[in-house]
Amino acid sequence: MIAIRDLTFTYKDEKNPALREVSLDIPEGGFLGVTGPAGAGKTTLIRAVSGMIPHLYPGDFYGSVTVNGMDTFETSLAEISRQVGTVFQDVDSQIISPMVEDELLYGLENFGVPREEIPERIGEALRKVGIPDLRYRDIASLSGGQRQKTAVAAIIALRPRVLLLDEPTGELDPHSSLQVFSLLKELNEEQGVTVIVVEQKIMLLCEFAKQLAVMNGGRIAFQGETREVLAHAEEMQDLGINIPRVTTLSRALSAGTGREQPVCINLDEAEAMVRGLMK
Ligand SMILES: Nc1ncnc2c1ncn2[C@@H]1O[C@H](COP(=O)(O)OP(=O)(O)OP(=O)(O)O)[C@@H](O)[C@H]1O
Ligand SMILES: [Mg+2]
Repeated sequence: MIAIRDLTFTYKDEKNPALREVSLDIPEGGFLGVTGPAGAGKTTLIRAVSGMIPHLYPGDFYGSVTVNGMDTFETSLAEISRQVGTVFQDVDSQIISPMVEDELLYGLENFGVPREEIPERIGEALRKVGIPDLRYRDIASLSGGQRQKTAVAAIIALRPRVLLLDEPTGELDPHSSLQVFSLLKELNEEQGVTVIVVEQKIMLLCEFAKQLAVMNGGRIAFQGETREVLAHAEEMQDLGINIPRVTTLSRALSAGTGREQPVCINLDEAEAMVRGLMK
């Protein structure tokens, strides 16, 4: 489980904190979606959970972050990385190898995975993100989306217990975005991997995340079960967050029919609601 307690963090040489009194609990096997406007502190939150803050990014750190019993302030980055895998928002700053296979190989060797296991682990990770055909490609020749998938494959090959992804679908088309989220769901449900994903496409979060945190100005504006958070649709819209149309529809129908409708967060629920009203 991940416990963030009253975390306030200011990057070195900055005046204002990037995170302000953030407290969050993510249970083991949780799936948290994080969204919010640009500069809200989403990436900073990911860095704090991964231990990059404070180990790689110095600054003023108040409060605590505990990941599966490890206090990130006291635990080395190498030790945290054994359990926590991170896909950066800027994948190009993460990729270090010239070829796709080498990128996966590098991490597996570093982790001391037995030689005979490595080819299968690479094959499996590439298959899971849908790029087995890119195995021997030069990374420089790949599209942004293909590099993003390579970065995801390199991390899942390490089989972390906690998976952090910072806008992993930023460069992906809708089909590939869905593919990545389906993979996260599979890892979460079948292997109990704890997932935290920063994502602008709120429909994806509504479909896949169990909990949602909306950030603004370094604070958590709303957090809770996805449906509870969506009850704050209007305030979220004021923050510039696109609300799923099905949620807007369920709210409009509540107002229009004078009958309180449940907050819909996906298409199936909206269909059920409309069918119910037509009866
Ligand atoms: N390395 C850094 N050094 C100094 N300040 C930083 C650094 N990284 C981020 N910040 C500042 O911290 C605040 C939060 O930034 P952060 O990158 O966490 O936001 P974000 O929600 O991820 O934004 P985006 O949606 O644009 O990715 C911003 O004011 C930003 O300028
Ligand atoms: Mg960011």
